[in-house]
Amino acid sequence: CPRTTRRGRPSPRPLCPKFLHTNSTSHTWPFSAIAELIDNAYDPDVNASHFWIDKTVIQGHDCLILRDNGNGLTHESMHKMLSFGYSDKTTLKGKEPIGIYGNGFKSGSMRLGSDAIVFSKSRNARCVGLLSQTYLEKIKAEQIIVPIVCFEGGNNNNHILYMLDQ
Ligand SMILES: Nc1ncnc2c1ncn2[C@@H]1O[C@H](COP(=O)(O)OP(=O)(O)OP(=O)(O)O)[C@@H](O)[C@H]1O
Ligand SMILES: [Mg+2]
Repeated sequence: CPRTTRRGRPSPRPLCPKFLHTNSTSHTWPFSAIAELIDNAYDPDVNASHFWIDKTVIQGHDCLILRDNGNGLTHESMHKMLSFGYSDKTTLKGKEPIGIYGNGFKSGSMRLGSDAIVFSKSRNARCVGLLSQTYLEKIKAEQIIVPIVCFEGGNNNNHILYMLDQ
């Protein structure tokens, strides 16, 4: 990645994939990582009333499946969820948000596993997003990229709107 633009101005340094692991080490034990994901489901923007945790094995790999029945995501909020530092939660109906930093999902999910795939179904969109250290290593990525596929529209009229890198 170039450090400066052609005119010599400093260009933003993208986040190195190794940062995903580094950032996750703030969780000294896995339960604080799970707490981050429960907090997100409980926060007023999502407002879930149930949270399920299951364990399964997929192609020989132990996997945790964490699921809530909250409001889900749009393409934009999926992008924010997989990015760092975006948090615009506000108090809703007197319920104050727990999340403020825009980091808990990334640190928590990457503490629990090397890879996270997020499936979301909301009123107007179905989205899949990938935050995966294995994928980034395989493609020898120099910066964190998060593939997202999002279908927006009514139940009978879905079409692909986005397939983006961060
Ligand atoms: N279960 C979920 N359902 C819908 N949206 C979610 C869910 N979990 C996270 N998000 C969205 O992803 C964003 C990022 O979550 P993340 O936990 O990384 O940051 P935060 O909760 O805003 O702040 P903090 O770092 O203090 O936890 C949230 O602001 C929220 O918009
Ligand atoms: Mg959070």
